[in-house]
Amino acid sequence: MGIRMDTIEIPAGESSKMIHTALAIVERLIALEADRKSALIALGGGVVGDITGFVASIYMRSIPYIQMPTSLLAMVDSSIGGKTGIDIQEGKNLLGTFYQPKGVYIDIDFLKTLPEREFRTGIAEIIKYGVIDDPELFHSMEKEAAELLNGSFGSPEFPDYPEYLERLVSRSGRIKKGIVEIDETERGLRRILNFGHTFGHAIEAESQYSISHGEAVSIGIVAATLLSEKMKYLSAEDRSRIAALIGAMGLPDRIPDGITTEGILSRMKRDKKKENDAIHFVLIKKIGTPFISSGVPEEIVRETIEEMK
Ligand code: GLY
Repeated sequence: MGIRMDTIEIPAGESSKMIHTALAIVERLIALEADRKSALIALGGGVVGDITGFVASIYMRSIPYIQMPTSLLAMVDSSIGGKTGIDIQEGKNLLGTFYQPKGVYIDIDFLKTLPEREFRTGIAEIIKYGVIDDPELFHSMEKEAAELLNGSFGSPEFPDYPEYLERLVSRSGRIKKGIVEIDETERGLRRILNFGHTFGHAIEAESQYSISHGEAVSIGIVAATLLSEKMKYLSAEDRSRIAALIGAMGLPDRIPDGITTEGILSRMKRDKKKENDAIHFVLIKKIGTPFISSGVPEEIVRETIEEMK
């Protein structure tokens, strides 16, 4: 069809998600004479997706873009839902837009190139979808935990591995799409996607980002589950099933040494999701039934953090 294509590369890692990278992309687009008939394709992980979406939303008052995520975390979370953003000195994603991609194209073959640690952190988000929306998905992961962790593409021990992984990715994407279609700009329902993230973001920041986002979310899921039990919403049985699945997937479930309770608490209070001085938590009543609570007493949050160490 004679469509012209050019490539713009950015260095890997969160440190690229900055305004100077966005400006460098814009300058390249101008040099390449990109106009409103041009489109961007975000081929990469979450950082590439967020910054490409951001540039697409503002370049010449917006041009279309497509997400082609290559990491598991980006496949099941950041490529879907149109949150774009960059980090500034004062915090992550403090500049950004809601701007939907024209499509999300996923090929799980990209996961063959992913380091194991990164693969696992994507699994934490899939567990999250099971916990907030889909008891069946959760149960299937309980059954397949060992294989999922040890399976490699087409290995004789788990020949159905790619198909199973594809089902997990596609189910997760559909859950997120369904939620975002109801509440695109996170006024209400979309907040349930932040299950585990209130603790997680605070732990990630307090570790000076030595803990990855996915690992922090994994610890945050266990913390939010424990908090749900302490608030007497969740049964001990469901709490231990969730903790067991996180453990079986080899994901972190404890707050590492050196991170203080006060540090986590003050981060959570500063979190942008804070409203009217109350910290909002996503809690669960059972697997598949989340709700938002702003009425958790600080002592119980403190107790939960202490027990997570
Ligand atoms: N990662 C949460 C959301 O997209 O709303």
